[in-house]
Amino acid sequence: MTSLQNSAFLKAARGESVPHTPVWFMRQAGRSLPEYLKLREGIAMLDSCADPELIVEITLQPVRRYGVDAAIFFSDIVLPLKAVGVDLDIVPGVGPVVANPVRTLADVEAIPDLTADQIPYITAAVQGLVSELAGINGGTPLIGFAGAPFTVASYLVEGGPSKEHAKTKALMFGAPDVWDALMRKISGISAAFLETQVAAGASAVQLFDSWAGALTPGDYVRHVQPHSARVLAQVGELGVPRIHFGVGTTNLLDLMGEAGADVVGVDWRTPLDRAIPMVGDRAVQGNLDPTLVFAPTEVMTARAAEVIEAGRAARGHIFNLGHGVIPSTDPDQLARLTEFVQSYPLD
Ligand code: CP3
Repeated sequence: MTSLQNSAFLKAARGESVPHTPVWFMRQAGRSLPEYLKLREGIAMLDSCADPELIVEITLQPVRRYGVDAAIFFSDIVLPLKAVGVDLDIVPGVGPVVANPVRTLADVEAIPDLTADQIPYITAAVQGLVSELAGINGGTPLIGFAGAPFTVASYLVEGGPSKEHAKTKALMFGAPDVWDALMRKISGISAAFLETQVAAGASAVQLFDSWAGALTPGDYVRHVQPHSARVLAQVGELGVPRIHFGVGTTNLLDLMGEAGADVVGVDWRTPLDRAIPMVGDRAVQGNLDPTLVFAPTEVMTARAAEVIEAGRAARGHIFNLGHGVIPSTDPDQLARLTEFVQSYPLD
């Protein structure tokens, strides 16, 4: 087995025993790092996501700084939509904003499918990263990612970030044919985005259904799960572990696992000892409250120890925060957290 396949991250994802609990942080690349902010000065977010040299450098910054067990590809869940020609932007401090929100079947049909030749900068960046990462800490795996159909649909239908997802759910409840067409369109795009990353060398993927927690289990099963399942099944054929994560998904963890995940990401609201029986024979990822980095270091590490101990009951455990790194996080505190998790004795 190559050293990459033997990494703690991939072993934990496969449910094999590990020398230490592997750790990485959602949103580790970006906003909280001064070296990131310096590099991004005067460059729009989506422009930086189309520049292989910048992608490689930004993805490597947290790996060098923290020595985390995995790198997450620097991009965004709306990048593939931009690549197929949807008129959208990422507005600083706001998030993705779509010029012409999608409401009708004609709107859906106007969105082209994604093919790898439309995103050569993704292939180039992944290839560059994989060769750099092979030489870091004995081989550091790269996680590719995409947005899950419901979360991406929310941006497309609302036209921007939303708390209630009211227009999205109105379409789901009121126009099932349009909804189905939209979800099929996005699942094809997300699957193609993941396949491109894996074909170029990514070792694992994470499907972000960040806003799925807005759904009841019944609506999730009926209107969302089949589409996420199609994405996960398509990448499953490539043989890499699949992580599936959402926020506020206490009621959905079993269903998100059944959608076809090897690893279920758990946000910080559900203690792992409750989450683990729900996800069945799968690994878990998570789930320290991201605000604990603002507590004294010994308070943060005591809570991290509780997360690690609870994680031992799972088929495998990858340590992470329960959602993305908060921009005002002190990088030195994340360095201390990484060191704590990696040196925590497991026997
Ligand atoms: O380190 C990493 O995790 C990799 C990079 C990454 C970004 N976005 C970069 C980014 C990843 C994995 C994402 C995924 C993403 N994007 C999600 C799912 C993950 C989650 O947090 O639940 C979602 C919902 C989005 C949509 C999005 N893009 C939001 C809500 C925002 C934040 C808006 C803001 O400024 O508050 C973005 C912009 C974004 N994506 C930034 C970064 C580094 C900030 C933009 C900047 O630095 O100018």
